[in-house]
Amino acid sequence: MSDHKGGLSPAVRGGLALVLVAAVTGVILWLVQGEDPDQNVDNNGTAKPLQQKAPPRFSSSQQCKVCHERVYKEWRGSHHAMAYTNPEVRKLSDDFAQKECRSCHLPKPILQTGAGERTLYRQSRPNDGVDCLSCHLDPQGRIAGRNASKQGCQPVANADLISMKLCESCHNQHQTTDQWRASPYPAQGITCNSCHMAEVKEGDRVLGRDHGYPGCHDLEMLKSAGELRAQRQGNKVHVEVENKGAGHNFPTEERHRAVDIVWRILGKDEAKKSSAEAPFTRLYRFRQPYRGDPGPNTQLPAAQTWMGEIDVPDGAAGQLMQIRMIYKLTPFLEDQEGQLLAKKEVQL
Ligand code: HEC
Ligand code: HEC
Ligand code: HEC
Ligand code: HEC
Ligand code: HEC
Repeated sequence: MSDHKGGLSPAVRGGLALVLVAAVTGVILWLVQGEDPDQNVDNNGTAKPLQQKAPPRFSSSQQCKVCHERVYKEWRGSHHAMAYTNPEVRKLSDDFAQKECRSCHLPKPILQTGAGERTLYRQSRPNDGVDCLSCHLDPQGRIAGRNASKQGCQPVANADLISMKLCESCHNQHQTTDQWRASPYPAQGITCNSCHMAEVKEGDRVLGRDHGYPGCHDLEMLKSAGELRAQRQGNKVHVEVENKGAGHNFPTEERHRAVDIVWRILGKDEAKKSSAEAPFTRLYRFRQPYRGDPGPNTQLPAAQTWMGEIDVPDGAAGQLMQIRMIYKLTPFLEDQEGQLLAKKEVQL
C-alpha cells in the first residue's frame, strides 16, 4: 500500500508549491491586464481591424475576488456559499451520502443545465456550494451579466440571469416560486431579487446588489414579513396576521419552518414583572406539513390576512393578555425557543 501523503519529498513538494504560486499569479496578471493599446496597430503604425481577445475563462469563485471584492465578501457570508458545508444539511443528508441532496447544494452552472430546469451536481469546489459560477457561467463559459461589457471579465448580457427562472431550478421544491407567481407581486414587477438582493449604495451612487441573500436566518427580514394585530371585541380578542412583506407564503420553503401565534394571561401583579413565568398557549401554527403528515397547508399566502380569536375567560377583568408571533426554524425540536417577531398586549 502506498502512502499518498508521504509520497513526495519536501523538496519536490516545495517546487510544486512554487510552480502553483507562479501559475496562479500568472493567471491573475493575465486577468487584470487591460487592453493593449498597440495590439490593433501594425508595424507601420496603420490601424488593423479590431481583433477581439477571447474572453477569459474561469474555474473558481476565488478568481472573481480580485476585482469584485465587495460581492465576494457578501456572498461568502451567505447561505449560498455554505450550501455544501452547512452542518444542518450535512446532518440530514448523512454527509451528502444521499446523492440527490447534492444537485442544489453543490450544483453545476445553472445557465448551462438550463434556467428553470433540474440541476445537476458537480464534483469540484465543495467549499463553495452555490458559487459565482453556479449563477454566472453561461453555456459558452462566459460571464453572464445584466449588461455586456468589453472590460474585465467581459460579461455578456443574459436575460435568464435576471429572471426568476434562475431561482426556480432550486427554489421550487416546496413551491416558493409558484407561490410568488400566484401573488400580486409579478404584476407589479417585484421579483425575488427586489426583496432578496437590495441595492448597495455609497451615498447616491449604486455600487451593485447585495449578494448576502438574507432569508429566514435574518431577523430583520423575518420581522418584515408579517404584521400582528390584536383587539378586544366583547368577550373575545380578535387576532390578525397579515403577510405584508413576503412575496410568497409565510413561512416558506423547508417544510419544518413554522410561525406560531401564542398567548397568555397575566394577573395584575405578574404583569408588572418582566420575568413572568406563566406558560403560553398556542392559538395557531402557520406551516406546510411534511408529506404524509395530517392536516392542510396553513402557510399564509402573500398579501393575505389570517384571522383568529381567543375567548376572554370569566374573571379576567383587569388582567393583561400577551400575544406573540414566534418563528421556528426547527419546530420539531421541543426545546427550540424560536425568534420573537412581534408582540401585542390587550388590557382585559
Ligand atoms: C431542488 C433543490 C434542492 C434539493 C434537491 C435539496 N435541497 Fe436542501 N435546500 C434547498 C434550498 C433552495 C434551501 C434553502 C431554503 C430554505 O432554507 O428553506 C435548502 C435548505 C436546506 C436546509 C436548511 C438549512 C438551514 O441552515 O436552515 C436543509 C437542512 C436542507 N436543505 C437539507 C437537504 C437534504 C437533506 C436534501 C436531500 C434529501 C436536500 N436538502 C436537497 C434546495 C434543495
Ligand atoms: C480582471 C478583473 C475581473 C475579474 C477577475 C472578474 N471580473 Fe467581473 N467585471 C470586471 C469589470 C471591470 C466589470 C465592469 C464592466 C463594466 O462595467 O463595463 C465586471 C462586471 C461583471 C459583472 C456585471 C455585468 C453587468 O451586469 O453589468 C458580473 C456579473 C461579473 N463581472 C461577474 C464576475 C464573476 C462571476 C467573476 C469570476 C468568475 C468575475 N466577474 C471576474 C472585472 C473582473
Ligand atoms: C443552484 C441552486 C440555487 C439557485 C440557482 C438559487 N439558490 Fe437560493 N439557495 C439555495 C440553497 C441550497 C440554499 C440554502 C443553503 C443552506 O442553507 O445550506 C439557498 C438559500 C437561499 C436564501 C436564504 C435562505 C435562508 O435559509 O436564510 C435565499 C433568500 C435564497 N436562496 C434566494 C435565492 C434567489 C432569490 C435566487 C435567484 C436569484 C436563488 N436563491 C438562486 C440554492 C439555490
Ligand atoms: C444565487 C445566484 C448568484 C450568485 C451565487 C452570485 N451572483 Fe452575482 N448576481 C446574480 C444576479 C441575479 C445578478 C443581477 C442582479 C441585477 O442586476 O438585477 C448579479 C449581479 C452581479 C454583479 C453586478 C452587480 C454588482 O453587485 O456589482 C456582479 C459584479 C456579480 N454579480 C458578481 C458575482 C460574484 C463575483 C459572485 C461570487 C462571489 C456572484 N456574483 C455570485 C446572482 C448571483
Ligand atoms: C415582497 C418581498 C419578497 C419577494 C418578492 C420574495 N421574497 Fe422571499 N422572503 C421575503 C421575506 C420577508 C422572507 C422572510 C419570511 C419568510 O420566510 O417567509 C422571505 C424568505 C425567503 C426564503 C427563506 C425561507 C426559508 O425557509 O429558509 C427564501 C429561500 C426565499 N424567501 C426565496 C424567495 C424566492 C425564490 C422568491 C421569488 C420566487 C422570493 N423569495 C420572493 C420577502 C420576499
